[in-house]
Parts: sequence; structure tokens; C-alpha cells
Amino acid sequence: MKTVYLDYAATTPVDARVLKAMLPYFCEQYGNPSSLYSFGREARRAVGQARRQLASLLGAEPDEIFFTSGGSESDNWVIRSLSEEALRHGGGHIITTKVEHHAVLRACEALPSGIEVTYLDVDSEGRVQPEAVESSLRPDTFLVSVMAANNEVGTIEPIAEIGAICRAHGVFFHTDAVQAVGHIPVSVKEWQVDALSLSGHKLYGPKGIGALYLRRGHKLAPFIHGGEQERGLRAGTENTAGIVGLGEAAAIAAAELAEESARLQGL
Ligand SMILES: Cc1ncc(COP(=O)(O)O)c(C=O)c1O
Repeated sequence: MKTVYLDYAATTPVDARVLKAMLPYFCEQYGNPSSLYSFGREARRAVGQARRQLASLLGAEPDEIFFTSGGSESDNWVIRSLSEEALRHGGGHIITTKVEHHAVLRACEALPSGIEVTYLDVDSEGRVQPEAVESSLRPDTFLVSVMAANNEVGTIEPIAEIGAICRAHGVFFHTDAVQAVGHIPVSVKEWQVDALSLSGHKLYGPKGIGALYLRRGHKLAPFIHGGEQERGLRAGTENTAGIVGLGEAAAIAAAELAEESARLQGL
């Protein structure tokens, strides 16, 4: 009996081309990207290339990409860092939705008192109403977080419309784009997002690697302390092979997105 795997929203297999790109970074080019000698330089070069590949897929600049362990970490990082900052100024208000992934919902629920969260309803198709976002804004709203594509029902949210509203009101806008990146065109500029979470294993990359796009000019408090990696914002020796795999997956997605997206729509 042949098994057919249909849950690509849960995870995807690693593309053979991605695996090929990653392999040298386990046993041959295993240098630490922070080391100053040639082994380190080669690893650092590979990390830099992956950063450019990923930035290119998102229409971002390489210095706006921060590698993380995945979508959950990226979501938690934004929510917790911005909340800590708000708490230093007396607290504040977050707007999100009832259909977010638990990485957003549980992170919001775990926030200390002083942070109030509005969880917006969605319509019968899972769509968030941009007008509801706008009418829920308060003077103390410091973050709006709305996912780009839903992991359970596949609804694509009106991110550009919500982004325009947030930008007009000067409110930080984060989108969990874990289910969107690599599947539909993503442009951080057209969407007017300040931060965007993504994950390697949803786009034929490896598990345990992801990224946070953070618009130039914003600074988040580090989520993991202890080293100068990721420009001091995310400590820990880089997952070089994973990063290379994510970069390759992004490059493949960029090259094949139009064709693949049309194929999936057809299915
Ligand atoms: C929408 C969404 N956000 C976040 C995540 C978590 O990503 P990761 O598994 O990389 O932590 C997932 C994974 O299922 C997801 O679908």
C-alpha cells in the first residue's frame, strides 16, 4: 500500500536540493561562523548568502533578517520583547485574532498584567475584518499581530489592508507568515509589516530553523542573551546547516513560486 502524505501545513519534506546544499556544513565546512580563521569565514559567508536569499524572497534587506529556531520563537520574540518595552512605560494594548497559531495566542495569554489583549473574531471564512482592527485601536495599542495565512483552514488574510491601517496610525504590525512564505507572493513593503515570522519546515526546508524579518529602524530586546550572533539580538552559535537549508529553500521558492502556486490552486 502506498502512503500519501497530505498534511503539508503541518510540515513539508526537505527538498533534495536543499539537503544537498546543507550537507557540506555538517562534516566538511563545520566552522563556527564567529571564528576568525578560514573555517569560520566560510561558514559566515554561507550564512550571509542565506540571509540574502531569504531577504530577496520577502523583498527585504539582508540586515532586516534575523535567524531563529522557527516560527514559534519568532512570534514569541516579537510579542514578549514589545510587551516588556510597553510595561516599562506603564503597560499597553495588543490586538490579535482568535484564529492565530498557539505560538501567538499562548504567548499573549502568558503576558503579565499591564498588557491587555483584544482577540478579534473572524468571518465565516476565517477572514479578519480590517475595519475591526481599525476600530479596536486605542491610544495605548503598541502591537497588532495578524497571521498571513491560516494553518488550519488556509484563509489568506488581508495583510496589506491591515498593514496600511497600522502604518497610518503608527502602530507596530507583525504577521505570522509561517504558512504563507514560499506559497504565495510575500512583499514586506507592499504588506507594510514591521515584523514577519517564518519557518523553514513549511517551505521544504529543515525543521528547527526560521527567521524574523524586522523592519530597519526597529530594535527588539534580545530574546536569547549570551552572544553577539544576529547582531547581538539572538545569542547562540548559528545553526549553519539549517540556515543554509532555509536560504536554499527560499531561493527555490522564489524561482518556482508562480508555477507552484498555480499548481496548488488547481489542486
Ligand atoms: C501559522 C503558524 N505559526 C507558527 C508555527 C510554528 O512554527 P515552528 O514549528 O517553526 O515553531 C506554525 C507551525 O505549525 C504555524 O502553522
